[in-house]
Amino acid sequence: MKIADRTFIVSGGASGLGLATAKDLHSHGAYVSILDMDADAGEALIKELGSRAAFFATDVSETESIAAAVIDTVEWARRTGKELGGVLAAAGVGNPGKVDQIIDKHNEPLSLSSIDFVLNINLRGTLDLIRQALPHMVAVTPLEPDNERGVLLLVSSSAAFDGQPGQVAYAASKGAIASLTLPLARDLARYGIRAVTIAPSLFESKMTSMLGEKAKKSLERVMEFPVRAGKPEEFARLVREAIENPMLNGTVIRLDGAMRMPSKM
Ligand SMILES: NC(=O)c1ccc[n+]([C@@H]2O[C@H](COP(=O)([O-])OP(=O)(O)OC[C@H]3O[C@@H](n4cnc5c(N)ncnc54)[C@H](O)[C@@H]3O)[C@@H](O)[C@H]2O)c1
Repeated sequence: MKIADRTFIVSGGASGLGLATAKDLHSHGAYVSILDMDADAGEALIKELGSRAAFFATDVSETESIAAAVIDTVEWARRTGKELGGVLAAAGVGNPGKVDQIIDKHNEPLSLSSIDFVLNINLRGTLDLIRQALPHMVAVTPLEPDNERGVLLLVSSSAAFDGQPGQVAYAASKGAIASLTLPLARDLARYGIRAVTIAPSLFESKMTSMLGEKAKKSLERVMEFPVRAGKPEEFARLVREAIENPMLNGTVIRLDGAMRMPSKM
């Protein structure tokens, strides 16, 4: 899928991996529709990016909020004449450290509200966003030579494969994203729409800045090479490749410097 002069929806685009990707796609000529619940950061970003960017305050755990943002995006794309090219679903949350153990030291089981919070944003919010964007994506003009209509980019995590203590809900949400990638690609093949999931390890972002220096350092120590957290721009480069390379489809790409997350930190 070409990037220039196409509109891309980026959820979670006001920070971290989504923000770096929104900027990268914009710098390659895309129109970016940023959906995020952080209205201050979102407004500041579109001021910085200018007329090829729009911000719609959105909570991806609320289906009506997504519906409004998708309709506003489609209306914006109609006005600019730049058809939808894809969705990056990067809005996500994760409770760092051992706060979400399945049973705590007082023998209290993990609350359903903690489980629902993570699953509603990371899994249901991702599926709901792409579900609502798709009727508009299947209606765009297909591009030669493959009759391609667009790309869905999903964000899993190393936790899908080697989740740490305290990550059952987060790992469940990210494992589900990895699992649904192939059936999603299979469902959408007839429309010329691809689905690609990226599973990052430790990347610099607002989410990982809440980890604390000690936890971050111990994760960095188990990186194979390079021995450092990934940079959001490195994630954005892979998104760009996934958009541009039509053979990437129905797959989960680990972006992790060969790191496998340890049990003990
Ligand atoms: N940074 C990492 O090390 C890492 C590793 C693996 C996976 N991930 C995943 O990458 C994605 C992006 O995370 P990040 O590290 O950039 O974090 P981040 O906290 O910097 O950015 C997440 C963004 O999502 C937004 N968001 C959160 N809940 C939302 C909601 N309900 N509705 C709309 N927006 C919401 C936040 O406002 C924020 O702008 C997440 O899915 C995360 O699980 C991150």
